[in-house]
Amino acid sequence: MNQFQRRKLKVLFDNNEAWAKGMTDKNPDFFTHLSKQQTPDYLWIGCSDSRVPANQVVDLEPGEVFVHRNIANIVVHSDLNCLSVLQFAVEVLNVKHIIVCGHYGCGGVKAALDGCKHGLIDNWLGHIKDVYRLYKTEIDALSTEEKRVDLLCEKNVIEQVANVCHSTIVQDAWNEKKDLTVHGWIYSINNGLLKALDTEVSSKGMLRLMHSLKK
Ligand code: CO
Repeated sequence: MNQFQRRKLKVLFDNNEAWAKGMTDKNPDFFTHLSKQQTPDYLWIGCSDSRVPANQVVDLEPGEVFVHRNIANIVVHSDLNCLSVLQFAVEVLNVKHIIVCGHYGCGGVKAALDGCKHGLIDNWLGHIKDVYRLYKTEIDALSTEEKRVDLLCEKNVIEQVANVCHSTIVQDAWNEKKDLTVHGWIYSINNGLLKALDTEVSSKGMLRLMHSLKK
């Protein structure tokens, strides 16, 4: 690591110190209160993309949102990492809302569509290709790559919402009549705005309705 890089890293520590001071200036008990417990209402499942930071785009403070991020916000039925986050959020933290948030222009979605080889990540992107196959006719009918990518970004969110809903964790929560809603949102990097996709599920009955509408 050269001197320049070392100075850049030091900036992070300086920023951190200033941020922590700013928080305690506003609320002297902020960190002592937070260190005792977290009671977030939301679980955010989003893309790892550095331009879509969960807390910042919804302007929530530490303690308010539990977060899981991976490339292209994918929820795989056998991904222990994501499932563990889901279980902890639902069963221990008792979150009320699970938000799957994709974003337009997602690099992972783009890579799944471009037909090129990208290495190991292609195994992960296979999950997006599965989504593409479900909506191939609709997506291929669009005139530009940008439009095709953006529609697949939306369809990917909808399918990942369904995967969350079908998990044993969410199914069990609904069996226990827990107040738990799963949402599908998409974020636009171009203007910083979120949009709710027409997918909001809070019971097994609604999940069945969602599937019947798709057919
Ligand atoms: Co992305």
